[in-house]
Amino acid sequence: MSAEVRPAGLEELPLLHAIRREVFVVGQGVPAEIEVDGRDADCAHVLALVDGAPVGTARLRVVDGHGKAERVAVLASHRGLGLGVALMAALEALARDAGHDQLHLHAQWPVVPFYERLGYVGRGEPFDEAGIRHLAMGRHLR
Ligand SMILES: CC(C)(COP(=O)(O)OP(=O)(O)OC[C@H]1O[C@@H](n2cnc3c(N)ncnc32)[C@H](O)[C@@H]1OP(=O)(O)O)[C@@H](O)C(=O)NCCC(=O)NCCS
Repeated sequence: MSAEVRPAGLEELPLLHAIRREVFVVGQGVPAEIEVDGRDADCAHVLALVDGAPVGTARLRVVDGHGKAERVAVLASHRGLGLGVALMAALEALARDAGHDQLHLHAQWPVVPFYERLGYVGRGEPFDEAGIRHLAMGRHLR
């Protein structure tokens, strides 16, 4: 198996959307119109490939001047291989290169331990987003 995580261009959005549709819309019941929110052109994207096949993605969006990780997704068939960690490392590198000293995210409640292991710290109370319980988290990048 050969795995690669790399930045993705906007021309690759159909590949990223297919992964996100499978993970969030089909897998979690998130409404398609919430998943595709019209902000993708304003984001930097990363793509995970296994043996050349697209299996994971995430995006970096600037919100109120801070980097925010969004749409972190790995196909169920390829979880537990370290791709989620690799996607986050790739987003953090993009955020550092863009001059951000922190990275924020809204973690789905069951995934909070995944982000805690990567150094993210929860902030405030859990809240509802797209019908799913979330916690705001963040970490310093430098
Ligand atoms: C969260 C997600 C991206 C993790 O991707 P992944 O490729 O399976 O993650 P990794 O293989 O890099 O996992 C690294 C470690 O975190 C652990 N981990 C993964 N998901 C976890 C979870 N939900 N809770 C606790 N630990 C978790 C893995 O077991 C692994 O531990 P190990 O190193 O001891 O084996 C993936 O499960 C996913 O796409 N989930 C559905 C979408 C989602 O919830 N996205 C997050 C939105 S905030």
